[in-house]
Amino acid sequence: MSVLPPLDVTRIRKDFPILERGMRGKRLAFLDSAASAQKPRPVIDTLSHVYSHEYANIHRGVYELSERATRRYEEAREKVAALLGAASPREIVFTRNATESINLVASSWGRQNVGEGDEILVTHMEHHANIVPWQLLCEERGAKLRVVPIDDDGALCMDELEKRIGPRTRLVSVVHVSNALGTINPVQDIVRIAHERGVPVLLDGAQSVPRMAVDVAALDCEFYVFSGHKLYGPSGIGVLYGKAELLEAMPPYQGGGEMIRTVSFEGSTWNDVPNKFEAGTPAIAEAIGLGAAVDYVRELGLERIARHEAELLDYGTERLLELPGLRLIGTAREKIGVLGFVVDGVHPHDLATILDQHGVAVRAGHHCAQPVMQRFGVPATTRASLGVYNDREDLDQLVEGVREAIEVFR
Ligand code: ALA
Repeated sequence: MSVLPPLDVTRIRKDFPILERGMRGKRLAFLDSAASAQKPRPVIDTLSHVYSHEYANIHRGVYELSERATRRYEEAREKVAALLGAASPREIVFTRNATESINLVASSWGRQNVGEGDEILVTHMEHHANIVPWQLLCEERGAKLRVVPIDDDGALCMDELEKRIGPRTRLVSVVHVSNALGTINPVQDIVRIAHERGVPVLLDGAQSVPRMAVDVAALDCEFYVFSGHKLYGPSGIGVLYGKAELLEAMPPYQGGGEMIRTVSFEGSTWNDVPNKFEAGTPAIAEAIGLGAAVDYVRELGLERIARHEAELLDYGTERLLELPGLRLIGTAREKIGVLGFVVDGVHPHDLATILDQHGVAVRAGHHCAQPVMQRFGVPATTRASLGVYNDREDLDQLVEGVREAIEVFR
């Protein structure tokens, strides 16, 4: 039984300057953290500090500023490695976002390991970033994308997963937490099942890393990806975790400076991992800002964050279900952080516009997961998603806005 104290949301809200501004004459109820989270003062201050006092290009200069920036950038890598429980910072590659991390694996590992007639296994709840890179790879290599179905609650059909891993399966690539449904997938079991059949696993942690403790060593997955901007960090910085032996065996993703050891017109040789995958000048301040975001969430405690979101999710679910004609999309037993719904007679975009008038920021649309919408027979949903700064008042504001929309369209 956990004895951790709950998050002090009143104090946390003070860390996020944007929450001080109102919205359309109301309090801002920001409920779109699954799309991108707001930034706390330590992250904003870090970016400002780096550019004001510590900025220079990294890994290139012998002067103090460059050495200092290099140190801060590499410290950020160490922080990410510790956050994920990676064996070494060498297993952490900085990318632009989770999408680029998946593209890197598809392009580099995929081209090396996937051939004609091979299969990549994904699930019906993936967002486009974990579908399209594999489609491009399959098209190029003559391979096939196979899909594990989900049930009416939005939970993965695990028996179907087992059945779909065959002799030609080269990779299982699965989302840890669904951005459209909130489903938490049983990733430990998925990795075990795939490994029993000798198949490596990529886990997309874009929605899980901001919401729960993740331990890649315990999971034993081959690859794990996430985006900085959803973890209260800057945009333009993301992470690919890969087991060292896999990263070492993979060819470069992009060519350019930093990723090389030697270059001549006869041919070039490659730097060690992870630099081999970081061609060109990287997002220096953003990586250091991500380090500050990692410190921030670790200080709050990922387990406390998960519990906070679970409690708010229960409250929001109960309140939304009071409303006539509202149907939740995504009701898996293991779920977190996301409340997707449709309301009879009200288009999700109209609903989001009315909610905006109430100071409530939500996303309406297909959430970059069109197959999920197709599965549930809806063109779009309205989605409220949670972060560390949300409280019951935000959800009350949401419910009042939806209630008014129902009245308007009655
Ligand atoms: N994948 C992001 C979302 O769920 C953009 O909104």
